Amino acid sequence: MAGNELIGKEEREQVLDVLERGVLMRYEFDDARKGIYKVAQFEAAFARYLGAGYTLGVTSGSAALKVALTALDIGPGDEVIVPAFDFIATYEAVLEAGAIPVMADIDATLNLDPQSIEDRITPYTKAVIPVHMCGSSARIDEIVSIAKKNNLAVLEDNAQSCGGSFEGKKLGTFGDMGILSFDFYKTITTGEGGMVITNDKGLYDRSDWYHDHGHDHNPAVGRALEGRSILGFNFRMNELQGAIGLAQLGKLDYIIAEQKKNKSRIKNELEQINGIGFRNLPDPDGDTATFLGFNLPDANSAKEFKNSLKENGVDTICYKENNWHYAPRWEHLIARATANSKQYPFSNPSYKGSVTYNTADIPNAEELLGRFLFMAIPVIIPEERMEKIAKAIEKAGRV
Ligand SMILES: Cc1ncc(COP(=O)(O)O)c(C=O)c1O
Repeated sequence: MAGNELIGKEEREQVLDVLERGVLMRYEFDDARKGIYKVAQFEAAFARYLGAGYTLGVTSGSAALKVALTALDIGPGDEVIVPAFDFIATYEAVLEAGAIPVMADIDATLNLDPQSIEDRITPYTKAVIPVHMCGSSARIDEIVSIAKKNNLAVLEDNAQSCGGSFEGKKLGTFGDMGILSFDFYKTITTGEGGMVITNDKGLYDRSDWYHDHGHDHNPAVGRALEGRSILGFNFRMNELQGAIGLAQLGKLDYIIAEQKKNKSRIKNELEQINGIGFRNLPDPDGDTATFLGFNLPDANSAKEFKNSLKENGVDTICYKENNWHYAPRWEHLIARATANSKQYPFSNPSYKGSVTYNTADIPNAEELLGRFLFMAIPVIIPEERMEKIAKAIEKAGRV
């Protein structure tokens, strides 16, 4: 559970510092705030941490996806390729932007299979969203080069692997744009919150305008007189979120280091069991270790192993059975049950494609996810809990 395990003195001090002056909005109120801009500081610190040109704090990871897709000019008539193993927010954001999500397969990394991108390209494909699931990267270098070859934009959804990297470069900085989530489950948290990442000034400007009703944020004239060139909406992060984010960002490397130690100890226990394999990590050094993914030879033995661990007090997730992280299980998506009664954007006449969500298109996901189990790795594991986990693994290995 990461960042939420460590909420303490630093977060309290940051929040009190905001409340001291009482300015909760990120813009304006210049006299009252006495030069303190927490969201702006959080963005600048994160850009440095990531080695990114621009970062923009927003209200959630879902909002960050919507803002980034809009900045990239993805909209009605367009298709966007997304992996079958994902959190539903990525699909929802594509639909929110008026475009159509196209389900692609995964590979042994359990993230988007670069090969599957080429298989899913149609004349309507505009972008691809690799999602770095459960702490570890996709084969992002290959994905970016396939996307470039096919003239597709890349938006990295890094909600689940904040602080992770591939060959020394931070995830979220490979594509045209990237996003992070700071909801309460994530590696660092601001309660709810998200971030848009890009190295492109034009894409940053469009994100900045869109996330705040089109405001061009010109400090020389003040908010009431600011100009605008596009319509927008409100996805502004507030100062309390920015303040907590600053405290949490200061803990990010520690969180990852502790999770790595814990993960390695649990992995050592699993390695003793015959028939257990592990998720393929394209760059183990860049893993954030929020999860340990391991597999059994088949779905039945995975189920038995899972049940035995559960009986002994250790929870694991089989994502093929999970309602929120595997596209074929989203009956409301498959039924096009949009919140609007017109089934927009599926029914949009400017959409000329014909999307389907058939499991026949994702053979790897169907085969792999049924026999993979995921264990969440906390930052803090007391010694007695670690012993309990080791015993539960040993017992499950005897079933
Ligand atoms: C892969 C992925 N993308 C996007 C999101 C959305 O983030 P948020 O909950 O901040 O809206 C999540 C949240 O779980 C996620 O896991």
